[in-house]
Amino acid sequence: MSIHTPKIDKKVTLSTIAKMKGVEPITMVTAYDALFAKLFDGEVEMILVGDSLNMSFLGKEDTLSATMDQMIYHTQAVCNGATLPMVVLDMPFGTYTSPEVAVKNATRAYLETAAQAVKIEGGKERAHIVEALTQNSIAVLGHIGLMPQFLRSDGGYKIRGKAQADIDTLVEDAITLEKAGVFAIVVEGVKPEAAEAITKAVSVPTIGIGAGNSTDGQVLVWSDMFGFFEDFKPKFVKQYCNGAKEVREGLEQYRNEVKARQFPSSEYTY
Ligand code: KIV
Repeated sequence: MSIHTPKIDKKVTLSTIAKMKGVEPITMVTAYDALFAKLFDGEVEMILVGDSLNMSFLGKEDTLSATMDQMIYHTQAVCNGATLPMVVLDMPFGTYTSPEVAVKNATRAYLETAAQAVKIEGGKERAHIVEALTQNSIAVLGHIGLMPQFLRSDGGYKIRGKAQADIDTLVEDAITLEKAGVFAIVVEGVKPEAAEAITKAVSVPTIGIGAGNSTDGQVLVWSDMFGFFEDFKPKFVKQYCNGAKEVREGLEQYRNEVKARQFPSSEYTY
């Protein structure tokens, strides 16, 4: 008998997410494998198979070299583990450079995984890509503000929305993306005033990360929030448990017991 009671008991769809704006904050976390996706099943409305897996899973420096093959492989794993959350596949850098390229790659995501949507980074300069995808029945989650895939062209990870002119640009980006058909927008690394202005300007939900408390939902990377990623901790990350410490303690106990021939005791022996 399971002692765990899931908080969500029906499959989350695009219409579930649309109806949550202004009613109840949306929870989203990243996952890259079936085991963690299963832990998150019934607990959060959305799971993002983020290209952050390039750091959190593969140990690379940034997200840039993630490939469509990797995203598909990890999304398949996540879909095997999670039955209820909406699963979103993050389109990696270079896979949506034109409407044709984007439709080809996103169609592959739909054909080879059970993801319900894809995410692409970019504001109004990427609206034509969003339009092409949605016209081909592919649901799109937008992503504006700090966009990790454009790290090199933007000259680093820069917090956005510090000046009114930039807030206006971000609001215009969000409105244009909504018109192009996104069902929700991730707003990353912006000042809270900017996130609030964006959230008020659009009728689709905004999902914040490092964007304060006024967005319609929040997303965090699982390895950050559970204390497994130790290279650095951005200011916006709250660690809800210390995963790395727990694993180290468990490992140390295992090592000591093996060395002392305490494990396996008769309890763990056939
Ligand atoms: O790749 C990712 O995990 C993301 C989130 C930070 C939104 O894009």
